[in-house]
Amino acid sequence: MEKTLVILKPDTIQRRLIGKIISRFEEKGFQIVGLKMTQISEDMAKKHYAVHENKDFFEPLVRYTSSAPVIVMVLKGKNAIEIVRKMMGATFGSKAEPGTIRGDYAVSNRFNLIHGSDSPASAEKEIGIFFDKKELFEYNPTDLKWVYDMSTGDII
Ligand code: RTP
Ligand code: MG
Repeated sequence: MEKTLVILKPDTIQRRLIGKIISRFEEKGFQIVGLKMTQISEDMAKKHYAVHENKDFFEPLVRYTSSAPVIVMVLKGKNAIEIVRKMMGATFGSKAEPGTIRGDYAVSNRFNLIHGSDSPASAEKEIGIFFDKKELFEYNPTDLKWVYDMSTGDII
């Protein structure tokens, strides 16, 4: 089981899309193990997007990310990082396929509603930026044995 950090960016909240987007992840079968509303400071945004430091879009990206409240959450599931990225769709709303979150709700190449960790290393780093250990919960959803076939001892 893998954990990934998701941010519902300022435009998701301003456009009242929180419920719709969270529902997609719940309905897919992911478990929410951490969730809160916060406003990301400029410093945190810079840290979070440090890999883009030298790009021309870094400054507007930091401004966008820190401009208004966001929802941060940690999702858990088998291959969660890759599956969440697929559900998000391509980076640019203008290019994202219909059926993906960005493809269905975003048209902008910057205001693209959602962030998801892109590798196990970034997931670990990003979860550490936004969550204390005590804000992450270990619990067994009662339907888990119907989300995955675990009858053989593996998670299929
Ligand atoms: P994210 O990190 O937010 O999950 O998005 P991503 O992996 O799909 O895309 P990434 O390349 O990491 O870019 C980070 C965010 O920067 C904004 N962006 N603006 N050319 C531009 O103006 C430009 N390119 C990227 C987007 O908000 C993107 O999500
Ligand atoms: Mg990225």
